[in-house]
Order: sequence, then C-alpha cells, then structure tokens
Amino acid sequence: MTLATTPRVFAEQRFFKPFYFLLLFTMGLTGFGQMPIFKRYYIADIPGLGWLADFYATHYIHYIGAVVLFGFFVYAVVVYFGLMRRQFRLTWAAYVRIALLALISITGIFRVLKNLPDVVFSPMFTMVIDISHLAFMMFFMAFGIIFMISKKGWLDKKLGF
Ligand code: HEM
Repeated sequence: MTLATTPRVFAEQRFFKPFYFLLLFTMGLTGFGQMPIFKRYYIADIPGLGWLADFYATHYIHYIGAVVLFGFFVYAVVVYFGLMRRQFRLTWAAYVRIALLALISITGIFRVLKNLPDVVFSPMFTMVIDISHLAFMMFFMAFGIIFMISKKGWLDKKLGF
C-alpha cells in the first residue's frame, strides 16, 4: 500500500472537502457583506443574520477566512506533492481553479494593502483591484458550478496505478 492510499489521507480528505466548501461559502458571504447588500435587501433582518450587516464582523471574518484559506493552500500543496503526485495528475479543471484562486488571492492581498493607513494606491489601480477581485470570484463560482455539474474533479489517476 502506497502512502497516497493510506486510510489516513482519505480520512483527512473526507474532513477537508466539507471544510473547503464551508470556507469558500464563508468567504463569498462575508465578501458580499462588504458591498453591502444584506441590509439593503433585508436579508440581515432575518433572525440570526443581523451580523451580515455589521461591516466589522464581516470584514474580520473575511480576513480570518483568508488566513485559514492560505493555510489550506499550503496543506493541499504539501499533500499533493508529498503524497499523491506519483499516482494522480491534476486535471485541466484543477488548473483553471488554481489559476482563479491565485488571482483572487493576489487581488485580495492588494485589497488588504489598500486598507492599510500608510499605503496609497491611485484611484484607477484601486478600482481595477476592487473589480478584478469581484470578477475573479464570480468566474470561480461560475466555473465551480459548471465543473460540479459536469463532474470535473481535481485529480485523475495516472495510468498504471
Ligand atoms: C475564494 C475566496 C474569496 C472570495 C469568494 C472573496 C470574495 C470577496 C467579495 C465578493 C468581496 C466584495 C467585493 C467588492 O466589494 O467589490 C471581497 C472583498 C474583499 N476581499 Fe475577498 N474573497 C476571497 C478571498 C480573499 C482573500 C484571500 C483576501 C486577502 C488576502 C481577500 C480580501 C478582501 C478584502 C480586503 C476585501 C475588501 C473588503 C474589506 O476590506 O474587508 N479576499 N471579497
């Protein structure tokens, strides 16, 4: 039995898949909370959802989520290159997801920098970063739905395994 097929790795994957979806959902929810749309469309009036209209709550949850997401990326890279690469290859759908996640993260980092008091970007650059963070996130969501419907996963088994 190779390392990639050990029950421990698969047990971890069972835990991490729902965790990954929950994390992305939280990032989307708290991101949209920044726009802000939940107060305007009375969603925040639903009992238990009042926090969605609280800028600082959604702002800090988005930041904490970003930190957890980066930790998750490190975990995924280590597990793939350390344990799974010999048996599995990344699908083209995985490359699309990775590229979009990288673009979301890079634009997200620039949005964080923009929020720092000593960092000043031009209005044009600020707008490009703001819109591209939102646009890449929307593309990621759209491709995520398409890949889910067409059952395009992240990994393909290599021949011979
Ligand atoms: C899949 C992950 C992510 C999703 C779905 C997401 C989604 C969003 C959305 C929808 C917005 C509002 C867009 C707008 O106002 O035009 C937003 C804002 C923002 N995002 Fe993200 N984002 C993600 C990851 C990240 C990461 C990794 C970072 C930081 C490294 C980040 C930092 C920010 C910042 C700073 C804002 C501006 C609001 C604020 O200051 O709190 N995001 N995000």
